[in-house]
Amino acid sequence: MRSLIDICDLSKEEINEMIAVATDIIARPDAYSEKCKGKKIATLFFEPSTRTRLSFEAAMYELGGNVLPVPGEALSSAAKGESVADTVRVISSYADIIAMRSPKEGAAFVAAESANVPIINAGDGGHCHPTQTLADLFTIYREKGTFDNLTVGFCGDLKYGRTVHSLITALSRYQNVKIVLISPEELKLPNYVKLGVIEKTGMAYEETTDLEKAIPDLDILYMTRIQQERFDDRAEYERLKDAYVLTAEKMQAAKKDACVMHPLPRVNEISVKVDADPRACYFKQVENGKYIRMALILKLLEEAKNPARENLLAGTDVFESEEGCENPRCISRTEQELPRLFKVVDKSAGVFRCVYCEKRKRF
Ligand code: CP
Repeated sequence: MRSLIDICDLSKEEINEMIAVATDIIARPDAYSEKCKGKKIATLFFEPSTRTRLSFEAAMYELGGNVLPVPGEALSSAAKGESVADTVRVISSYADIIAMRSPKEGAAFVAAESANVPIINAGDGGHCHPTQTLADLFTIYREKGTFDNLTVGFCGDLKYGRTVHSLITALSRYQNVKIVLISPEELKLPNYVKLGVIEKTGMAYEETTDLEKAIPDLDILYMTRIQQERFDDRAEYERLKDAYVLTAEKMQAAKKDACVMHPLPRVNEISVKVDADPRACYFKQVENGKYIRMALILKLLEEAKNPARENLLAGTDVFESEEGCENPRCISRTEQELPRLFKVVDKSAGVFRCVYCEKRKRF
């Protein structure tokens, strides 16, 4: 039995297979309409969502299965203090697979260690959002036919934008991909992605604050929302919220075959006038997301025929510490019974990272 916590849980070959299945679902929907007959997906969303939750639910219905929606944290027993581990263990008794979103970074990892059914991470705080990345990759594949030799600009909130972290991680595995990181100083990419993914893999990158200067070189421009809900300081959000607005005028400098993406929801960062531009792909991403999630559900339910839970820390050098993670959004900070586990990054330099949220720590 496997779960999907991070996009790297899937190999490139597995992603290619899922893209092939999603493409076939689009071509032959009737062939899949009873594939999940008798199966149920629980959608456990403790943060707001429109696309991800509904696309999982639509995906399961279109596969002939059923949905058990959990109506938010306030109406579940999490509001009485039930842990993530206990919550998913209970839901495992009712559902065959669980898609979950939590503000706690590392929640999906903890859930996958406890559940008796596959867990799909539908977003854990500012950490990861691997199924959005599958939707993004499927969109890139449908628009460009390849993941290699692309220059991809990421613009906006690169600090808290979990979709950015997951997509950069995914793209780092392809050939000759260059990324351009466009953000205000305050919202630059966190070190666990910059050091742990970009510099570790030798991926070409540059950083800038200037969107207009970057646009002409980009094959893909991935715009993001400034994530209001993750700011501790409201005044800082107000100062940064309109840092970048993509307009039809700015699009004049873009390549003729450029592709503008956005995980949505947008607030103000893409003018609605850009929607009519054939290079605007963000509503295609939404639709692609349903088909690739159908492929994911099929894959994980097939693998769940072997009930042995995958060891998520297999082959990893891990140690337990007295000291906890410094990330206030890490699940280990709010669910105090969890062991404080760290992976070794560079033992001689004393660099480790939290197994739950990946924040680096020195000992
Ligand atoms: N892209 C995305 O995660 O959208 P929702 O928050 O609406 O699910």
